[in-house]
Amino acid sequence: MCGIVGYVGGKKAQDILVGGLRRLEYRGYDSAGIATLDDKNEAHITRSVGKIAELSKALESEPQTGHLGIGHTRWATHGGVTETNAHPHHAGNIYMVHNGIIENYKELKAELKDYKFASDTDTEVLAALIDSNYKDGISLKDAVAKSLKRIRGTYGIAVFSPKEPGTLVVARLGSPLIIGLGQGETLIASDASALLGYTREAIYLNDGELAVCTDKGAEVFTLSLKHLDSKPETIEGDLAQIQKGGYDHFLLKEIMEQATTLHNTLSGRIDPKAGKMHLGGPNLTEKEMRDIHHVVIVGCGTAYYAGLLASYYMEQLVPDLTTEVVIASEYRYRSFHLPKDSVALVVSQSGETADTLACLREIKKRGIKTLGIVNVVGSTIAREVDGGTYVHAGPEISVASTKAFTAQVVAMLMFAGMIAEYHGGDPKLIAEFTRELEILPAEIEKTLNDNRETMEKLAKKYSKFDHALYLGRDTAFPIALEGALKLKEISYIHAEGYASGELKHGPIALIDDRFFEVFTILDNWLFDKSCGGLHEVRARGGKTIVLTNSKADIEADDIVRIDSPIKLLMPILLNTLQQLFAYYVAVDRGNDVDQPRNLAKSVTVE
Ligand code: AGP
Repeated sequence: MCGIVGYVGGKKAQDILVGGLRRLEYRGYDSAGIATLDDKNEAHITRSVGKIAELSKALESEPQTGHLGIGHTRWATHGGVTETNAHPHHAGNIYMVHNGIIENYKELKAELKDYKFASDTDTEVLAALIDSNYKDGISLKDAVAKSLKRIRGTYGIAVFSPKEPGTLVVARLGSPLIIGLGQGETLIASDASALLGYTREAIYLNDGELAVCTDKGAEVFTLSLKHLDSKPETIEGDLAQIQKGGYDHFLLKEIMEQATTLHNTLSGRIDPKAGKMHLGGPNLTEKEMRDIHHVVIVGCGTAYYAGLLASYYMEQLVPDLTTEVVIASEYRYRSFHLPKDSVALVVSQSGETADTLACLREIKKRGIKTLGIVNVVGSTIAREVDGGTYVHAGPEISVASTKAFTAQVVAMLMFAGMIAEYHGGDPKLIAEFTRELEILPAEIEKTLNDNRETMEKLAKKYSKFDHALYLGRDTAFPIALEGALKLKEISYIHAEGYASGELKHGPIALIDDRFFEVFTILDNWLFDKSCGGLHEVRARGGKTIVLTNSKADIEADDIVRIDSPIKLLMPILLNTLQQLFAYYVAVDRGNDVDQPRNLAKSVTVE
């Protein structure tokens, strides 16, 4: 996730800005920059691709002396990883940094005909919009407020202008911003960790609020410029704790922030009123979408399981589509053939996984169109596919993939929902999926908040076992595989995922008191069948946990029920329970949750 810092006061801004950006490095980024206003009211911008060290090197040759400034670490969303796309951005008299996604930046850009845009970013468009409103004597605050009323999307911004020295204007909607109140100085940050050491007194801006910051403090307003009496709060915790958003581990932070990051995945891509979905990234013409009749989905680990779940949805949505989901490390060496009317979805959080990248290159050799379903912008896979979609889950720091899984499934579902229209897909079903996508973030948030304690208790009850079987049928089968992977990779319990219909073909021989079984049971037409496997296991003394959205009587040692209007996408909700379960089991076993033994976040070797 991008990071923002700002400073106005008696000290040299550059040192404070760079120091603040270093505090935000853990959030993941691919470029950085600062802009300051010197005492002659001249603005200076220095930006660099890569780590903060590169920015520091650039500043050595052109140190900035001003006492007011802004800084940014960029996690690319719109536009590649280049210096031109790095923040701060400038237009006319406006210098600014921005976190978030502006959905309507293209229509705004079309209006701003007097401006030449150097970057591909949505941020530069916002800078130009503010500059276009910053005239006829209106204040910077008023120009910012007027411009933000035009924005659809999310933002956390910090803005200054040589026309108003000593003034920083900040605002937020969906992207955090905190104002640190010092002695004769005011600091801005998107994360409290950048403020520690300067002040513990802070104003946490709320969505829809804007503030004018000077070295004397801050005044907070609504976008309609109604003055608000915001009370400062005390920043609690130490640096390490704050960088994890107050959670003990990045993994729990990333599990709990899925609802927020999913908003970015969905942003501008679903139209619930029209009952439609649209992905811009693949840039497929109507004819190209109509001509797709086979989809091969390639990935490793969790990315593979996300593809498996997505393939069920694709078959439901697109009547004449065949799908295959392949494990990249196997597929790359097979003598595979793909029909000409195929498209390959190449799924990877990091965009650097060697096996997946090798598959991509093999598939391209066969002249098949490749589309990336990737999280890290500018990654190798993202650069080598023919087109694709960024899932915008934000940096996933913990080795175990959680929020990226959810984002990948949703991105591939939107791909299917988009092409379904060109294959006689049932408009009612497309609309039903679209409506579920719209409420999915809130339902995930509710599911996680309602069940966090329950899953922690359950984890403590089962954390001493050394074997587990995860079982599910239909769209719950990929979830069983993913749940088993989550548990094994962070708790080191031997866990296997299986199609519950397969129990009688072998795995049921395993059932004894060394094992526990986790059944994911959907309240759908296969409910009775799914319960069949559960009864078979219980008849042999198996210890059973059931995760379900059914209200029916179910015999099990432990049952966790989700009450939600979500039906089709219920596997995604139930999977979040599995994520919590695996996390708390690993914690209870005292493991290094974020960096499990033998594992790397991105497997860039074979
Ligand atoms: C998932 O929790 C694991 N960390 C691992 O299986 C991962 O999904 C796999 O290595 C693929 O990584 P990628 O999505 O970055 O390509």
